[in-house]
Amino acid sequence: MKKETVIVLDFGGQYNQLIARRVRECNVYCEVHPYNISLEKIKQLQPKGIIFTGGPNSVYAEDAAICGKEIFELGIPILGICYGSQIMAHLLGGKVASAPVSEYGKTEVEVETDSAMFQGISEKTICWMSHTDYIEKAPETFRVTAHTTVCPVAGMECPEKGLYAVQFHPEVMHTVEGMAMLRNFVMNICKCSADWKMGSFVETTIQAIKEKVGDGKVLCALSGGVDSSVAAVLLAKAVGKQLTCVFVDHGLLRKNEGDEVEAVFGPEGSYELNFIRVNAQERFYQRLAGITEPEQKRKIIGEEFIRVFEEEAKKIGAVDFLVQGTIYPDVIESGLGKSATIKSHHNVGGLPDYVDFKEIIEPLRMLFKDEVRKAGLELGIPEHLVYRQPFPGPGLGIRIIGEVTEEKVHIVQDADYIYREEIAKAGLDKGLGQYFAALTNMRSVGVMGDERTYDYAVALRAVCTSDFMTADCAEIPWEVLSKAANRIVNEVRGVNRVLYDCTSKPPGTIEFE
Ligand code: XMP
Repeated sequence: MKKETVIVLDFGGQYNQLIARRVRECNVYCEVHPYNISLEKIKQLQPKGIIFTGGPNSVYAEDAAICGKEIFELGIPILGICYGSQIMAHLLGGKVASAPVSEYGKTEVEVETDSAMFQGISEKTICWMSHTDYIEKAPETFRVTAHTTVCPVAGMECPEKGLYAVQFHPEVMHTVEGMAMLRNFVMNICKCSADWKMGSFVETTIQAIKEKVGDGKVLCALSGGVDSSVAAVLLAKAVGKQLTCVFVDHGLLRKNEGDEVEAVFGPEGSYELNFIRVNAQERFYQRLAGITEPEQKRKIIGEEFIRVFEEEAKKIGAVDFLVQGTIYPDVIESGLGKSATIKSHHNVGGLPDYVDFKEIIEPLRMLFKDEVRKAGLELGIPEHLVYRQPFPGPGLGIRIIGEVTEEKVHIVQDADYIYREEIAKAGLDKGLGQYFAALTNMRSVGVMGDERTYDYAVALRAVCTSDFMTADCAEIPWEVLSKAANRIVNEVRGVNRVLYDCTSKPPGTIEFE
């Protein structure tokens, strides 16, 4: 049976995958495609609905992303969001213009509650706006279904053709009733039956991997973190012993982590995996010597990883596929969409130009962290592994500001170990998205005993987040912070100062580099 699908057409906005994720939250399978996908391909996919995303441009810009008009004749319901709504108006004879005042942020919108889009929605509802252009006039056959004091057409529809549009972003949390609006579109307008679950994602992904890999050999980059563990178990279910998991100890792991990963996935562990541990500390330290620029460090670590995998693959022989546990925020923040590059996440933007594998398989590429966790539970991975806090591929390399040396690695490992221990003792670990120690490149004067010291400052960080795209700085109780700080200064040589990072994301990022 063909599964019900809604597709999101990516016009270059920031929230494309978030829209897809919201649709999946309605229990309808959803994936993102480029805005210029062919009509043929759309027909093959047989979606029950299409959503146009926002985008950074004006419809009048020279390089504006514009699709063909024929899409409106397919008889498939379409929802245009922000730029997507303007495209719809522009192509169907309405008028898009530069708004007299740009609307940005939470805005009160008045909606027509007899519209199928706004059934059950309050007449005045707070929505997230972010636009400079707006629809000045809806196309002839459209009815205006929402407006604000600035925006005459904040919503419009042509139900006979299944066309709906909103100027605001229903997918972001700040749009208070946004989820209900999306559910209206998916359920009432697209008539989806909402029978998709994460279990179906696991099943169909296993099937798709089987078909792709055939009887080929696969190598999986396993770090022991949530994403790569889920990817490895998924692959193991799909292709069994054709899979070899390679765990590279790059010398940038947390204290004792190498042995812990080996205990779970190695020969004594609970999975029957072909498991290889490569102790590559020395070569990573050598390549990182003297390098201080964050992006360069990331690229070096990413490249060295791949070189190790290539070498291991050669030893196994005839390996065609490399599997990585890349998830969606890695992709978007590496700037592979049209959005700006924040950092090159090592398993995406950090890849070298040439990779000696026939294909890279990234089965989790469209999922957010919490969705990956759900998939992990579906696969029977124990909760304590599924709910481990994330740890970045480049490891402590990006938690040591400036040059990485073995000595600094030991300092940050020991400080981080103490901090994590104190957080766990206080029972705070489950409520935090991520918490760790980082080594600032700053040395300062202190006094210990009667001696002057000139040592490093360690920064402690803890954030609350579910999607890791945004994060709030966590309010760790003072007793816990001061206990951890005290222990770090007393027990870790080379540290005489401990700082707490109070920055949220944005404007900070979670990691320091
Ligand atoms: P930032 O620092 O960008 O981190 O706010 C967001 C989330 O991504 C993790 N992260 C990475 N994960 N490879 C990864 O696998 C990377 O290169 C990488 N950089 C950051 C980070 O730990 C946080 O959970």
